[in-house]
Amino acid sequence: MYKIVDKRILAPNIYLMDVEAPRLAKAAKPGQFLIVKMHEKGERIPLTICDYDADKGTVTIVFQTLGKSTKEMAAFEKGDSFADFAGPLGQPSEMVHEDLESLKNKRIMFIAGGVGTAPVYPQVKWLYERGIKADVIVGCKNKDMLILEDEMKKVAGNLYVATDDGSYGFKGMVTDCLKKLVLEDGKRYDLVVAIGPMIMMKFVAKLTKELDIPTIVSLNPIMVDGTGMCGACRVTVGGETKFACVDGPEFNGHLVDFDEAMRRQTMYKSEEAQAEFRKEHKHEGGCGCCEE
Ligand code: NAD
Ligand code: FES
Repeated sequence: MYKIVDKRILAPNIYLMDVEAPRLAKAAKPGQFLIVKMHEKGERIPLTICDYDADKGTVTIVFQTLGKSTKEMAAFEKGDSFADFAGPLGQPSEMVHEDLESLKNKRIMFIAGGVGTAPVYPQVKWLYERGIKADVIVGCKNKDMLILEDEMKKVAGNLYVATDDGSYGFKGMVTDCLKKLVLEDGKRYDLVVAIGPMIMMKFVAKLTKELDIPTIVSLNPIMVDGTGMCGACRVTVGGETKFACVDGPEFNGHLVDFDEAMRRQTMYKSEEAQAEFRKEHKHEGGCGCCEE
């Protein structure tokens, strides 16, 4: 069992939990995810790791209540325990394998959308701990939906907040903010890492292609079971079939077929639709043999 040692509400329907998981905390790297199960027969929920503390033996998760399972999860309190908390899963971010000296010369911009701010944080923190300060744009609907601002301020070079309604910081979407920084303010970036809703990553990748800035995106939102078995996260990247949960979650944003991935995401939108799809297609594995 995995005990919740802290719980906070970050914004309406967005929760943070610190969970006791010493082995996971020791092994976790930025970009990886884990799978939570509330009880033996509970749904498997894949979540990108938001933070980890090997000394305390805790792992931090941040989630938004979207369906039945996440609502049940939000009802868990400090002292309650998850039946399963498995990970780290997926491939760590590319930067973890990069030569530190060449990384130090890179001007990196992270673009975080809404709840996607949580998985951006460990990457920016990892760089900061190695003497590298990356810039960050956090985009959210309004000031009330902004999360982890103080934490991000401590580890980012420059933090730019963009709100859709202009209630705080820059008024507009993250793409408008990046456009302003690069085209009007003369900022230069060698790499953009975008994590947030699929639609945001699609348009960030479209813009950075025009601006000629290599871009990484995280396809966590299309995962369902996170094990390579259900086939839900199948995505075309540069003409090749990949599975976000096994080969990713991070991919070259300029090569991802977002429209196809978003169509598949809609198909798996509700638990009911997922169950129906499996029943109808008798889908068993992630082997790809049954591709349309
Ligand atoms: P949101 O809808 O509030 O969007 C956040 C920001 O994204 C907006 O403020 C805007 O700046 C930008 N954005 C949205 N649409 C855009 C567009 N068409 N063009 C340019 N920019 C655009 O975000 P939310 O409600 O917090 O999003 C929740 C989503 O984030 C869920 O779908 C979840 O799956 C996803 N998520 C993704 C990851 C990941 O690893 N990629 C992690 C956690 C959550
Ligand atoms: Fe099921 Fe990747 S989430 S195969």
